[in-house]
Order: sequence, then structure tokens, then C-alpha cells
Amino acid sequence: MQEELSTLVARAASELPQVRTRPEFEAAKARYVGPNGDLTRLMKQMGAVPKEERPAAGRAVNEAKARLQEQFDAALRRLTEAELAAELGPPVDPTLPSPDPGPGTYHPLTLVREEMCRILRKVGFAVADGPEVETEFYCFDALNTPADHPARDTQDTFYFPSAARFGNVTKKTAGEKYLLRTHTSSVQIRTMLQSPPPIRIVSPGRVYRRDTTDATHSANFHQLECLSVDRGVTVRDLKALLDYIFTALLGPGTKTRFRPHYFSYTEPSFEVDLSARHLPKVNKEWIEIGGCGMVDPAVFTAVGYDPAIWTGYAFGMGLERLAMLLYGIDDIRYFYQNDLRFLRQFA
Ligand code: DAH
Repeated sequence: MQEELSTLVARAASELPQVRTRPEFEAAKARYVGPNGDLTRLMKQMGAVPKEERPAAGRAVNEAKARLQEQFDAALRRLTEAELAAELGPPVDPTLPSPDPGPGTYHPLTLVREEMCRILRKVGFAVADGPEVETEFYCFDALNTPADHPARDTQDTFYFPSAARFGNVTKKTAGEKYLLRTHTSSVQIRTMLQSPPPIRIVSPGRVYRRDTTDATHSANFHQLECLSVDRGVTVRDLKALLDYIFTALLGPGTKTRFRPHYFSYTEPSFEVDLSARHLPKVNKEWIEIGGCGMVDPAVFTAVGYDPAIWTGYAFGMGLERLAMLLYGIDDIRYFYQNDLRFLRQFA
């Protein structure tokens, strides 16, 4: 009998974990403890067991019963948990934000910058880079804007205490005043000092001004600069380039016009206005987009180019202004707030 009981318990231990449904469970349970179950049958045989053996047999039966009950309980617990899980569905909370943010998007300023660089590369301009922390030499002096020049007032910026603060005083930097560059025109100087003419560069980047923020001003914004130096370059080449790039960006019917202006690094100098089918978006017929002119001979002299041989044009413009026009954005501050509702519109 003892042996039969332990085979029975072993059988239950291998059978019950296979049970998948309640009917299966009930049927399995009945095979052991139902009216015709195996344990029930063995218990019925108790009467035939000799009296002296009966207490031991009784303990064995109770032991087997307890083991079987453990199996039943475990199987039932497993079934109940499975039923509950099925009822709840897959383990997700649909009200939580998705853990997958999806693919990112380019910032509208990046889109405009890349598109302008692509357009300019097509006509032979190479992308040039320069630092945002600049020295007065590159930002002003070499651009024919000495310390007492009134043009400096319109480009007031943030100055660094001194190079010593950064622990990088060398013979070369000793007298330098560091500042946040006010325009990308500084890259013209860096490029010309590095390589001989002819030169064709486009230089996009961040610039800084001491400005109070409002819908159209920001203390830091982005510009894109072009410089072309060669023999026999004229204002016509400059005008043609501007017409080409803005038509390529904004579509047919785009016009540019020059208004005489003053920049210390170009002579003659102009401000450039732009008219395009996008303008109704900002309710204007013309908008000012940048400054340009023919490179001043003094700038060539500062970088060691012979002004008797070399001529060139330069052009600088605001990227925010262009993006606002292109996309119909009416407040420059949107660009810097990192609001996904704004940024996702450029996907
Ligand atoms: N640097 C000027 C500014 O920030 C823009 C500019 C004007 C750039 C004339 C040029 C230029 O290259 O020739 O307002």
C-alpha cells in the first residue's frame, strides 16, 4: 500500500503541472480523490489492513493526501493567475506615453541651413567653419572695423574677462580680447588667412548680440555667410548668386533688390531685400534678408591678398529670418523653446 501511495503521489506531481484548463483540472482531481479515484480506492482498502499495521497505513494515507492537496492547490493557483492574465490582456498600460519616442526630426533651422549649403555647394561653395568664441581681430579689426569705429556699437556683444581667465595666455593671445562673435563674417578672415585665392565658401553658424529678446530679436541667432574671391568678380556676380540661391530655396518668382548701405568690410555695400510668394505668410511685400557688397581692399590687405589682383563679394544673412519666411513662423522664440508640438511640424 505504501508503495502504491508513493507512485500515486509521483504520478500526480508529473500530471498536474500539465493541466491547462479548469475542466482538465477537475478531471485530474477526480482521478485521485473522486468517488472512483485512485486514492479513494486505496482508502477503501484500509479495512482489510491488519490492525497492527493500520496506524502506519493511516499516516501514509494522510501524508499522500496532503501531498496531493499541495499539487491541487498549486495547479489551481497557476490556473487562476493565467485566467487573470488573459482577462487583463498583454502587460501594457495604454495610458502611459510610448517608451519609443519614434524617429527624431530636424530642427527647422537645420533644415534651412542644410538646404542653403546644398544649393551653394552646387555652384562651387565649400562649407567653412569658425569658432563662436572669437577674438576682436577676426570679428572686427581684420574686417576693417577698428576699436573706435562706430559700426562696433551696432554689434555690441558679450566680452570675456581676459584670456588669462582660461589659462591660455600665449605670446599670440596675450593682447587678445575674446568675445562671442557677432557675425559669421569672422570666418571670411579665418579662411583667407589659411588659404590663397580663389576662394568660395559658405559658412553657417551661431552668432551673438547684446539684444533684448522679443518676437524678432534674440541674443543668439544664426547666420549664413558667403565669400567669393577671384579675379574680375563684379556686383553682377553677387546679384546673380543671390537670385540663384533664393529662387532655388523659395521657388520661381523670387526677386531680390539691393539698397545702398554701409558695411566697413565691403565697398560698395548693400542691404538685400527679398520678395517671394511666401511673403503673404508674413504680410509683407519685401523683407530685408541680409547685407552684402564687394570685399573692401582693406580686408584683402589685412589677410595678405593683393587688392590689385583680387576682387570678391561677400554676403551675410540671418537664418531665422529665412526660416520664418519659408515656414510662416511669426515669433523667433519658437526656435529655441524645444516644444515638440512646434518641432514635429517639420518632420
Ligand atoms: N555681417 C553683417 C551683419 O551681421 C552681414 C554682412 C554684411 C555680411 C555685408 C557680409 C557683408 O558678408 O558683405 O549684419
